[in-house]
Amino acid sequence: MQHAVAVKSSSSWFDLNLDLSNSQLSDEEKQAKKQLKASLKHQRKVQKLETRIQHAISRNDPIVEQSAREELDELLRNNDILQHQMQQVKASNDEQYDESMLLVRDIFHRLLSVFDKKEQSFSKAEQIQRAKDLLHHMTKGTQALTMFQDVTALRGYTRKKFYSRAGLVVESLGKLSPEQSSLSNKKDVIDACWKNLERINRVCSIGCGPGCDAVGLLAFLKGYVPNHNSSMHFILLDYAMEEWEDAVLDDLEPILTKSFASTVTCEHCDVTIPLLEKHAHLIEAKKAKEGAIFFFAEPLPWQLHRLIRMSAPDSDPSPLQRLRFAWIDSSMNHPELQELDGRAGGPAILLAIKN
Ligand SMILES: C[S@@+](CC[C@H](N)C(=O)[O-])C[C@H]1O[C@@H](n2cnc3c(N)ncnc32)[C@H](O)[C@@H]1O
Repeated sequence: MQHAVAVKSSSSWFDLNLDLSNSQLSDEEKQAKKQLKASLKHQRKVQKLETRIQHAISRNDPIVEQSAREELDELLRNNDILQHQMQQVKASNDEQYDESMLLVRDIFHRLLSVFDKKEQSFSKAEQIQRAKDLLHHMTKGTQALTMFQDVTALRGYTRKKFYSRAGLVVESLGKLSPEQSSLSNKKDVIDACWKNLERINRVCSIGCGPGCDAVGLLAFLKGYVPNHNSSMHFILLDYAMEEWEDAVLDDLEPILTKSFASTVTCEHCDVTIPLLEKHAHLIEAKKAKEGAIFFFAEPLPWQLHRLIRMSAPDSDPSPLQRLRFAWIDSSMNHPELQELDGRAGGPAILLAIKN
C-alpha cells in the first residue's frame, strides 16, 4: 500500500508519496517531506500537552494544568518565531537556488539541442534505455571501461542525470551559506569552506563524466557568491575521457569557454593507478594547497567513512592527514546515523578543507 499525502510547495499542491526514499524524491518533494515531518512532530507535542491539560482539569489538578498551559503557550510562540525565520531564510535561499538552477537548465538545454542535432538514429527514450545498464553498474561501482564505449548510452546518462547531479552540487554547497541555518555541526569547517569559495578559480573534477559537477559549481558561484567574478579553470579527469569527450564534453567545452569565460582541460586519469611523471601538472593539482576544498559525493557513505578513518592522525602519514571534514548530507545532524555505513537513502555528501 502506498502512503501518499497532498502537500503544498511554494507554488503548487502535489501528492507526496511517503513510501519513497529521499533519493527518489525531487528537491521540492524532499523539502515538503521535511516540513511535513516537522509539522507532524509539532502537532504531536501540541496534542500531548492538550491531553495533559484535559486530564489535569478532570483530576482537578490546577498546578499541572497551569504548567502544561505555560508549556503549550511557549511551544506555540516558539513555533511562530521559527516559522517566520524559516520563511525569511527560505525566501532568500530560494532566490539564490533558483538563479543557480536557471543557469544549469540553460547549459543543459544547450547541450540537449546539440545532442538532438547529432543523435538522429536513436530516440530520447532509446538513449535513456541504453544508459540504464550503465547507471546500474555506476551505482554499484561495478562498471567496466567497455561499458562507456557507447556514445548513445553516455548521452542517455547525460539526459537522465546531468540536471539533477549539477543540482546536487548547488544544493549541497548552498547549505554552507551563513543564511542557511540547518548546518549546525562543524561550524568552523563550514565557515572556512564558505569563505574560500569566494576566491575559488581552479577546480578539478575527478570522475567528471559529462561535466555536471563542474557546471553545478559554476552555477552555484553565479547564484550564491555574487562577489565571485573571476573566470574558472576546470580540470576534468576521467578514465573514460575519450568516450565522454566524444559524447558530451566536446560540446560542453565551447559553452563554458565562450559564455562563461572559463578554460577547460580534459585529461585521462585512472584513480586506481598512481600518476606518472608525464602527468606532472596533475600531480601538482593533486598536491592541494592549504585552504583547498574537497567535495565528495557517493551513493552510499561507506567509502567516505573509510576516507575519514584513513585521515586520522594515527594512521600512516598521508596527504589526507591535514583534512578537516564536515558532512553536508541529510543526516549531518545525526552522528549516530553516519555510523551506519551501508545506509541507503540519498547520496552521501562530505566536504573537507585542507589545513
Ligand atoms: C557515477 S559516474 C559520476 C559522473 C559525474 N561525476 C556525475 O556526478 O554524474 C562515475 C564516473 O567516474 C568515472 N570512473 C569510473 N572509474 C574510474 C577510475 N578508475 N578512474 C577515473 N574515473 C573513473 C566514470 O567514467 C564516470 O564518469
